[in-house]
Amino acid sequence: MTIRAVVRGVGHYLPARVVPNVELESLVDTTDEWIRSRSGIERRHFAAEGETTSMLATHAARAALADAGIQADDIDAIVLATSTADLTFPSAATMVQAALGMTRGFAFDVQAVCAGFVYAMANANALILSGQATRVLVIGAETFSRLMDWTDRTTCVLFGDGAGALILEAATGTGAPSDRGILATDLHSDGRFKDILYVDGGTSTGTTGHLRMAGKEVFRHAVEKLAETAHTALDKAGLTSDDVDWIVPHQANIRIIEATAKRMQVAMDRVVVTVQDHGNTSAASIPLALSVGKTRGQIKAGDLIVTEAIGGGLAWGSVLLRW
Ligand code: UT7
Repeated sequence: MTIRAVVRGVGHYLPARVVPNVELESLVDTTDEWIRSRSGIERRHFAAEGETTSMLATHAARAALADAGIQADDIDAIVLATSTADLTFPSAATMVQAALGMTRGFAFDVQAVCAGFVYAMANANALILSGQATRVLVIGAETFSRLMDWTDRTTCVLFGDGAGALILEAATGTGAPSDRGILATDLHSDGRFKDILYVDGGTSTGTTGHLRMAGKEVFRHAVEKLAETAHTALDKAGLTSDDVDWIVPHQANIRIIEATAKRMQVAMDRVVVTVQDHGNTSAASIPLALSVGKTRGQIKAGDLIVTEAIGGGLAWGSVLLRW
């Protein structure tokens, strides 16, 4: 008998304001054609003034709780992946806890930038496998629009805001790869690459700062590392690419998504793609894609899913799960 962290519910939230590429043409020297062809992005959502990351996260959490048919007080822990918490502290996770009216359990943020949701899932899995929690609300939520330098065309056209949430619950498995739930995780970071993707603000400057990225270099690392980590997770579970029903990748750039699928020898009709509608929502992109993929009827019970992501740090990794 093995304990498995099984998906009990999923949900997402996108702010109301949709910003098509053409709207950005009036801000910086760019075109809809350039953004589409270089990134695959067609539009993104931006949070309204005063609409914070914890608010987006709370909406997504409520949707996931409703999908699972449980109440906030049925949750033992909240793990929230974000790099755009409302305040330096307390954590956005404790703000969600309060907003949900949850008076028990514990809540904390995970900061691994675009790889944040993969890290949060691995942490939630560890909490469940070690018996410290039975049900964990895992959220990815971001307001990256607030980190943009609106004079830098190389970054400001790429990012968007949103939130997605999953509820993981302890269940009994057989230990075989046919079990539902998380089957393997694989995490990496390499701080030597801290200068190719970062925000130039924080306690050292007393400002929030703006996102800076050496796009081409990050692109190269992404193409090299994402397929590798996905294969490692599959290896750990004794499975191969042929067994995969869906890749649910971090949604940064359609060219990275396609290159990774090609390296994994998985056809694009087995990849959940949302980048055209959301842009890069950092830690929110995978749970958003999982929720949208389920809503579209792509993801079904029993499907084998590999999620993979890379971002600032560099930090990267993958989670293999059976839905
Ligand atoms: O989620 C975290 C991980 N992040 C990523 O995975 C992002 C990884 N990087 C990328 O997705 C791509 O590198 C970008 C989409 C950021 C850029 O695509 P690229 O094919 O690497 O383009 P580039 O940076 O080489 O730029 C090509 C040209 C440059 O002009 P020159 O130097 O060739 O004259 C840029 O100045 O495109 C120019 N350019 C733009 N033109 C119009 C850069 N941004 C824009 C823009 N509109 N918004």
